[in-house]
Amino acid sequence: MSLQNIIEIWQQRVDDALAHYLPDEKTTPVDLHQAMRYSVLNGGKRVRPFLVYAAGAAVQADDTALDVTACAVELIHAYSLIHDDLPAMDNDDLRRGKPTCHRAFNEATAILAGDALQALTFHLLAHHLPTMIPAEQRLDMLDLLAIASGSRGMAGGQAIDLAAVGKQLTIAELENMHIHKTGALIRASVKMGAMCRPDIDNTLLQKLDHYAKCIGLAFQIQDDILDEIADTETLGKTQGADKALNKPTYPSILGLKEAKNMAIGLHDDAIQSLAEFNHRADPLRWLAQYIVKRVS
Ligand code: IPE
Ligand code: IPE
Ligand code: MG
Ligand code: MG
Ligand code: MG
Repeated sequence: MSLQNIIEIWQQRVDDALAHYLPDEKTTPVDLHQAMRYSVLNGGKRVRPFLVYAAGAAVQADDTALDVTACAVELIHAYSLIHDDLPAMDNDDLRRGKPTCHRAFNEATAILAGDALQALTFHLLAHHLPTMIPAEQRLDMLDLLAIASGSRGMAGGQAIDLAAVGKQLTIAELENMHIHKTGALIRASVKMGAMCRPDIDNTLLQKLDHYAKCIGLAFQIQDDILDEIADTETLGKTQGADKALNKPTYPSILGLKEAKNMAIGLHDDAIQSLAEFNHRADPLRWLAQYIVKRVS
């Protein structure tokens, strides 16, 4: 099977599972449930679910556990995007080529949709991970995602991002911001995907974690680059938003060429950490390349 076929299958699997686990939009409160479904089922590249599946494939993990985990990380991601776009944060009107959640509904509904997606994530992990994964490991997965999403992960990174507006950051400070706001969830996606194997080996986990650290940072560097060089239609979000908001980014500090070199260096480092994995890790290798070469 080609990688393209594999990705299509994973895309279908995660989309079906998300549509299944999200509350029906006819269920009250209708606005809230509509806003949740609108923000999750409106496209998106599904990179984090693919990382779950790809890490799972590398270690031959359980399929049902992978579906639940893929949904969990995408729900956290979707919630983070809704809140990231709010007027109090990046104040964006366009997301995935459509009006942002607070534009399509209203601000209060968007805040609540984010809250509810976050809660649904942890319900999924607590309730739907298969029991063939030991209870302690399931709890570790849930805890991992909680830490990666909270003040020591994504939400903390977002706080650093907002505090950095208009400031000159050092490269170390910028890296710290990126590994929190974006890297933490990507890292959790890879690790949790591997933990969908009940007897996962710790040495393998560490190698995958190094891979994930590298591509997590590379992902946000490429996001910053695309904010400068892509166009709004291809991106599906407003081009030039970082500059307009005076956000420190890799290209603004290092220049475009150096930022690109840095992303490529991180890609190479990520690939290196998969050296002992066989062909089953090819989707992870492909995703590393996709992350630094993507155009949207
Ligand atoms: C955008 O993430 C936000 C960042 C963390 C950089 P994606 O580029 O994965 O957004 P979607 O899910 O494809 O819309
Ligand atoms: C967002 O970073 C990271 C999140 C935690 C959502 P950005 O603010 O750069 O993401 P985009 O460019 O709006 O997608
Ligand atoms: Mg932001
Ligand atoms: Mg933003
Ligand atoms: Mg961005």
